[in-house]
Formats: sequence, structure tokens, C-alpha cells
Amino acid sequence: MERQKIDIIDRIKIVEAQRKDISGIAKVLEGTLKQDFVYGPHDFNENVDYSFSASLEREHERVYVAKENDEVVGFAWFMNHPPNNGTAILEMLAVGKDYQRQGIGSYLINESSNLFVESQREAGINLRTLHLTTNLSNQGAQDIYTKAGYEVAGEIKGFVGDGNVEVVMVKRISDEPCPIEYKTQ
Ligand SMILES: CC(C)(COP(=O)(O)OP(=O)(O)OC[C@H]1O[C@@H](n2cnc3c(N)ncnc32)[C@H](O)[C@@H]1OP(=O)(O)O)[C@@H](O)C(=O)NCCC(=O)NCCS
Repeated sequence: MERQKIDIIDRIKIVEAQRKDISGIAKVLEGTLKQDFVYGPHDFNENVDYSFSASLEREHERVYVAKENDEVVGFAWFMNHPPNNGTAILEMLAVGKDYQRQGIGSYLINESSNLFVESQREAGINLRTLHLTTNLSNQGAQDIYTKAGYEVAGEIKGFVGDGNVEVVMVKRISDEPCPIEYKTQ
């Protein structure tokens, strides 16, 4: 396992995505979360291009790509839309089909979370938590998130429609306590 970790650090670079990386992100999505970008009058590639181009322009969003040589093999997409009491979202995480189960996802989520939290700190926002939702039956995703420090905080039934259950997972970022006015009695 330790050997694999060293190999990953040598092989994979985690960097902020640029416009030129969007086609690589689309390739990763093709074999993973394609259905999320199949909607409306435009095709899959147009929807991916639209979403990520817009995201790259937003001050409080970040997309990080995992690259092997110059190829995008995975990405993580974070959103922080203040005012939100120091909470931000890990919107999407994916590793290309041919690159899964090699430790890339774990490396990506850890490195990119640190980069994102730091980027927001530099923008004057101290994040208190990161959160996400994932399908209850996506055990692989829950395992990787748990290993990255997220804890299951609840379930949302019917979130994507009848028959769907999403798990909410939360990761604590700072020791700063919840503001008194948000405490539940
Ligand atoms: C979830 C995902 C990002 C994991 O990426 P990855 O590079 O394969 O993850 P890693 O190799 O770092 O695996 C880390 C751990 O996660 C768990 N895990 C990952 N994939 C798993 C799977 N298919 N089944 C069970 N556990 C899995 C394991 O505990 C694994 O540790 P191990 O290999 O030592 O057993 C990847 O499978 C993926 O892109 N899936 C499709 C998109 C998706 O479901 N995204 C998350 C919801 S938005």
C-alpha cells in the first residue's frame, strides 16, 4: 500500500483545471457519470463544456484534474456559494474507468480538498465543513469518502425521484464551532 502511494505521487499531478482540460473531463465522464450531462436540447459534450466553462469563471468554484503525463484521468469539482455559513459542496468526483482502483481517487480527493479549502481561505472564507450526497447503493463512493474523512450524516429519500435514496456525508474542516444561532436546541 505504501509503495502504491509513492507510485501515485510520482505518476499523478493534481492541478486546477483550465479550459483546455474540459475535453479530458468529458472523456472521464463518458465512462462514469455521463447520464448527469444528458439533458435538454444540447448533446452531452455541449452540456459538459457549458457547465465546466461556467464553473471555471466562478470565484468560489474550483475544478481540479488528476493528470498522468498530460492526460486527464480524473477530476473533483467543488462549489462554495456564500452566504452559506462556511459550508461548501464536493459536487462531483470521478476517475476514468481504465484508471479506477489504483488509488487515484483517494489521492485526488485529499489533495483537491486541501487546495480548495486553501483557495477559499485566500478569498477570505474559512470553511467549516464540506459536504456531498451520493447514491445509497454506491458503496465504492461511500468507502472512498469515509477514508477521506467524511461521515454519513443522514439520508434524503426521493431526492432524485421515487426509488432514489441519497446519503449525505459531511467532513469537518476547521475546529471553529457552529455559530450559536444555528445550533439546534
Ligand atoms: C468513486 C471513484 C471516484 C473511486 O475512484 P478510484 O480511483 O477507483 O478510487 P481508489 O482507487 O482511490 O479507491 C479508494 C477506496 O475506495 C473504495 N472503492 C473505490 N472503488 C470501489 C468500488 N468500485 N467498490 C468498492 N469500493 C471501492 C475502496 O475502499 C478503495 O480502497 P481499496 O482499493 O484499497 O479497496 C470511481 O470509482 C468513480 O469515478 N466512480 C464513478 C463516479 C462516481 O461514482 N463518483 C462518486 C459519486 S459522485
